[in-house]
Amino acid sequence: VLAGAGRRDLTGRHVLVSAGGTREPLDPVRFLGNRSSGRQGYALARAALARGAEVTLVAANSSLADPAGVKVVHVETTAELRAGVVEAAAGADAVVMAAAPADFRPVDVSSAKLKKREDGTAAPVALVQNPDILREVAHERARPGQVVVGFAAETGDADGSVLDHARAKLARKGCDLLVVNDVSGGAVFGSEDNQAVILGADGAAVDVPLGPKSALAHAIWDQVTLRMRD
Ligand code: CTP
Ligand code: CA
Repeated sequence: VLAGAGRRDLTGRHVLVSAGGTREPLDPVRFLGNRSSGRQGYALARAALARGAEVTLVAANSSLADPAGVKVVHVETTAELRAGVVEAAAGADAVVMAAAPADFRPVDVSSAKLKKREDGTAAPVALVQNPDILREVAHERARPGQVVVGFAAETGDADGSVLDHARAKLARKGCDLLVVNDVSGGAVFGSEDNQAVILGADGAAVDVPLGPKSALAHAIWDQVTLRMRD
């Protein structure tokens, strides 16, 4: 799995990684967000740098330090993440969407802090769906031969197994690779370790056992480099 560790097989390549979880403001002090730590995306950026790539990291609300040698673009919302990703994708040989964009945002953002009511009731919050960045990048292919990678945390249910859902998502998104976490046992956020199956649109399925996020990062770059054009 660590075939690429210690290699410089991304020399001359420009890669784009997104990381972290986006936040959608509700008022000046509140937001809708998620628990993504950004660790897997930062590990991907560091692994690509070690393999010789020029790396752009579009980072949403991660508390991790900017990795030295990586161009880091800090964003907050899904709209900002989209703008940062679309801009950097124009020059990228590979795009890896490790970020967890908020799927919805409040329709209205209050410019004043929302106050509690005397009668104890609360106003409902209307939400609108955010754009799907991975789907857009995969369908646009800003550069010929660009390799596009998505992530998915899935559970099995009455409609199908983890891999059934993942295969359907891979097809829906139109990406080349989908890194699938089985979260049936409960999602683990902020962990140092990760386990996954890397699915390819070409039918490939590579099992990556539980291990450090750096090992999964290198396994992902192994699969990306296999699919890059000269
Ligand atoms: N993604 C994205 N833009 C969004 C939502 C997700 O680019 N608005 C990307 C994520 O970065 C990830 C992949 O799509 O690489 C899959 O994310 P996931 O949340 O599993 O997909 P969704 O289409 O949002 O499906 P679900 O309803 O299962 O959340
Ligand atoms: Ca989602």
